Amino acid sequence: SGSRIPLIAGNWKMNLDHLQATHLVQKLDWVLRDASHAYDEVEVAVFPPFTHLRSVETLIQADQLEIMLGAQDLSQHASGAHTGDISGPMLAKLGCEYVIIGHSERREQHQETDALVNLKVKAALAANLAPVICVGESLATREAGEHIAFVTRQVDEALEGIEASRLGRAVIAYEPVWAIGTGAVASAEDAQEVCAEIRQRVAHTHGQELADGMRILYGGSVKPASIAELMDKEDVDGALVGGASLTAEEFAQIIRFRS
Ligand code: G3P
Repeated sequence: SGSRIPLIAGNWKMNLDHLQATHLVQKLDWVLRDASHAYDEVEVAVFPPFTHLRSVETLIQADQLEIMLGAQDLSQHASGAHTGDISGPMLAKLGCEYVIIGHSERREQHQETDALVNLKVKAALAANLAPVICVGESLATREAGEHIAFVTRQVDEALEGIEASRLGRAVIAYEPVWAIGTGAVASAEDAQEVCAEIRQRVAHTHGQELADGMRILYGGSVKPASIAELMDKEDVDGALVGGASLTAEEFAQIIRFRS
């Protein structure tokens, strides 16, 4: 992963209540502290549901935990008549550093388009949040051999019209839809292939410097048993973890991929 600091991110999706959420973070911190320092130089972030952000943030602040906070989505608008939506400035005020954008579940269940993803990336940057932009192909697209073209087009559209100078903290997560929640983790070779293509594409559209510094994560059924091999790959800079981020022990094992 070159000089890029690995990012291990836990996407909790629509799980846990706020007490379980704070307990999980407390336990995670406890497990990590208890271990050797094999997770030094790894950035850890959790993405709770909106309703738990305040509780988790209070705990992180009070105990000065080295865990970053992110949200799972945001509105493309900064404020106004958008009932039920949550804006970037609201999330920034809650202490979020990151926000996931364009997760395949939102693309599928909320009909989010590449154009909307692009607006949300702009909204995140305007609120000083680092976007974690999710891309990834379906099984049919992969079987048709079109996954590279599909994913690089998603990247193009997400970053369309945004200057490289504004994207320094942006993260891209490659999450093949067929690997999410299925137990069918991509092979390290497949993950590397697509992450390398994404980096090349960003270099082409936004310059080599941005591409070299940008963290590109893999997501989809990452477990303690699969993380080390993935992290060995040059262009895989971390993981976006769903199911395995819901238990402190498993998530901690993933964070300590070097041990
Ligand atoms: O965003 C993370 C996610 O979609 C992967 O979920 O449960 O397959 O690790 P999971």
